[in-house]
Amino acid sequence: MSHTSQAPFPITRFRRTRQSPQIRALVQENTLSVGDLIWPVFVRDGDGVEEPVPSMPGVMRRSVDKVVEAAREAADLGIPAICLFPYTDPALKTPDCAEAWNPDNLSNRATRAIKAAVPGLAIMSDVALDPYNSDGHDGFVRDGKIVNDETVEALVKQALAQAEAGIDIIGPSDMMDGRIGAIRTALETAGHRDVMILSYAAKYASAFYGPFRDAVGASGALKGDKNTYQMNPANSDEALRLVERDLSEGADMVMVKPGMPYLDICRRVKDTFGAPTYAYQVSGEYAMIMAAAQNGWIDGDKAMMESLMCFKRAGCDGVLTYFAPQVARTLQNLR
Ligand code: PBG
Repeated sequence: MSHTSQAPFPITRFRRTRQSPQIRALVQENTLSVGDLIWPVFVRDGDGVEEPVPSMPGVMRRSVDKVVEAAREAADLGIPAICLFPYTDPALKTPDCAEAWNPDNLSNRATRAIKAAVPGLAIMSDVALDPYNSDGHDGFVRDGKIVNDETVEALVKQALAQAEAGIDIIGPSDMMDGRIGAIRTALETAGHRDVMILSYAAKYASAFYGPFRDAVGASGALKGDKNTYQMNPANSDEALRLVERDLSEGADMVMVKPGMPYLDICRRVKDTFGAPTYAYQVSGEYAMIMAAAQNGWIDGDKAMMESLMCFKRAGCDGVLTYFAPQVARTLQNLR
């Protein structure tokens, strides 16, 4: 290709710009920085508890006091935000999911405690009924069906309770139709004008959520699958229509989930809307990298950094990742 009949040498030598770390730095197109990271953390009951999640090596379920410690560590590392996921006592899971909007539920208690101790750190929530639902689904189940509009009313109550507790970013992960508009209206009406919504807009029905369902104790409860509300992995145009809908209903930021298998969707979303776009590198993606690393089959640290750079290359503004503290530490050592 680069040989011509006139020149007996390659005119364009791409290797010239790869010859040293300094030159490679000069031509580097994308950068991963600590400011790109949102750290998902699991909260459980108790005091002084850090309980490992077996299918996610290195990930813990923490009691509120330990979550506060983790939040302080995140802030010290420069991580801008953490995202709370509750592991709810099975005794509190009911068909009416009332624990979801209890002002003193685990998630809301953790939010208040973190805000008091580490005020600068942004906190993101999860809006969906699955941690509180004895049926394991993100919405109410009636006659074997997940009902939409009644669920949205409950999600609004859940989101308002989170806003009252001091949440910065509401993260609806439930995939019900109309929930962004309903939550936005309720937030404005209640005076929570600065509370952001990061919509799980393009959330696929994925096998990569398995370890997360273990972590929040939802695997046992879930009856059936989530295919009537989460997206078909075969679809791409539908993701754009969902993002457009959620932005028009008042989402400030949008998410594609899972991450690595859906980089094409990240790129299309960013190119089409230019809105703040995030990927969720989900539990199964984390578990795969950790499992291979623990077997000595890949270099875990390098695979971690490479897997996160791919989100920046695909156009994302940031990424939710269980690797966040390790990445932050790795970035500091490189500096
Ligand atoms: C459910 C929820 C899920 C995740 C975040 N919120 C699982 C699901 O939809 O079943 C998955 C996150 C991960 O796998 O890391 N509301």
